[in-house]
Amino acid sequence: MSDFAPRVFSGVQPTGNLHLGNYLGAIRKFVALQESQDCIYCVVDLHSITAQLVHEDLKSQIRSITAAFLAAGIDPKRHIVFNQSRVSGHAELAWIFNCVARIGWMNRMTQFKEKAGKDRENASLGLLAYPSLMAADILLYRATHVPVGDDQKQHLELTRDIAIKFNNDFSERIAEAGLGTEIAVGEETVNGYFPITEPLIGGEATRVMSLKDGAKKMSKSDPSDLSRINLTDDAEQIARKIKKAKTDPDALPSEPKGLEGRPEADNLVGIFAALAEKTKADVLSEFGGRQFSEFKPVLADLAVEKLSPINGEMRRLIDDPGHIDAVLKDGGERAGAIAEKTMRDVKDIVGFLR
Ligand code: TYM
Repeated sequence: MSDFAPRVFSGVQPTGNLHLGNYLGAIRKFVALQESQDCIYCVVDLHSITAQLVHEDLKSQIRSITAAFLAAGIDPKRHIVFNQSRVSGHAELAWIFNCVARIGWMNRMTQFKEKAGKDRENASLGLLAYPSLMAADILLYRATHVPVGDDQKQHLELTRDIAIKFNNDFSERIAEAGLGTEIAVGEETVNGYFPITEPLIGGEATRVMSLKDGAKKMSKSDPSDLSRINLTDDAEQIARKIKKAKTDPDALPSEPKGLEGRPEADNLVGIFAALAEKTKADVLSEFGGRQFSEFKPVLADLAVEKLSPINGEMRRLIDDPGHIDAVLKDGGERAGAIAEKTMRDVKDIVGFLR
């Protein structure tokens, strides 16, 4: 048993439109967790300059992600909602973690390889160090649980590696300063400053795929808008995109096993299940044997029913930037107070003079 107080942290980048994958894989889980946990949700603007430095509308993107958080039901009074660049501890701790993490660890990151593409030498140093900033986001608040989609799993493993190495390398100093907490690592119990964070990746939509290609992840950066359902799409756009979604000619199977080798069918059934809060098996027991021409309109109605209230509220909030900015300022102040304490401890552990 770990003695760390449970705390949830997660982040979303303010780049491009939020889509159904972000909603089902992450934001909807943020909302559910706030009922039982102490939560911090962050718009990670420092991350957004790693792949592209100059953004025309970064401020409105930050507000739009915040609006999505609030519209989905996150309560910024009971929990903390803020944008990362307000709290300088993220960048400070990331620097220390850059000295903890090894270049080999960073080079192995799938997301770095994908984003850097063939011209790795020309990628920003920030893109390579991205996971170290992500570890800093989480560990600055000594968060114990991180809800994310499946694509972030490797980054969370690296966060655990950074925490383990920091705890080991500084174990004596941590103990001397009386800053250690009991942590269970497998069978063993160690004394460390940072928790070994647990990823929360679960449910039927941990990896929502493109509507145009069942082998590709639904993504903000896909050039085809038909590949994704944006949280800002209206009912007509949602219905049109589902109607045009790629499928195969067969009817739906009556059990999940029948979805093997049918990535597009699997994806649509997964989306249905996640939206309806059911399992794929439940959905197939209802729709097995039916054609996509029958299934798609029911899926479109369900998606509209679940997404239009969020869409409407997002639009209302985006028209009130003063309110959004006040939420972020208040959240930033509360996050900053927690971060300050961590940075004081970390500076003492590393041995800086304060
Ligand atoms: P980002 O902004 O790309 O995505 C935000 C969240 O949405 C999830 N997600 C998906 N889930 C299911 N299916 C998909 N197609 C899909 N696409 C995206 C992501 O897994 C994520 O949970 N590195 C992170 C941001 C970050 C962060 C953090 C997250 C920075 N610091 C600390 C957690 C904790 C990212 O780029 O997410």
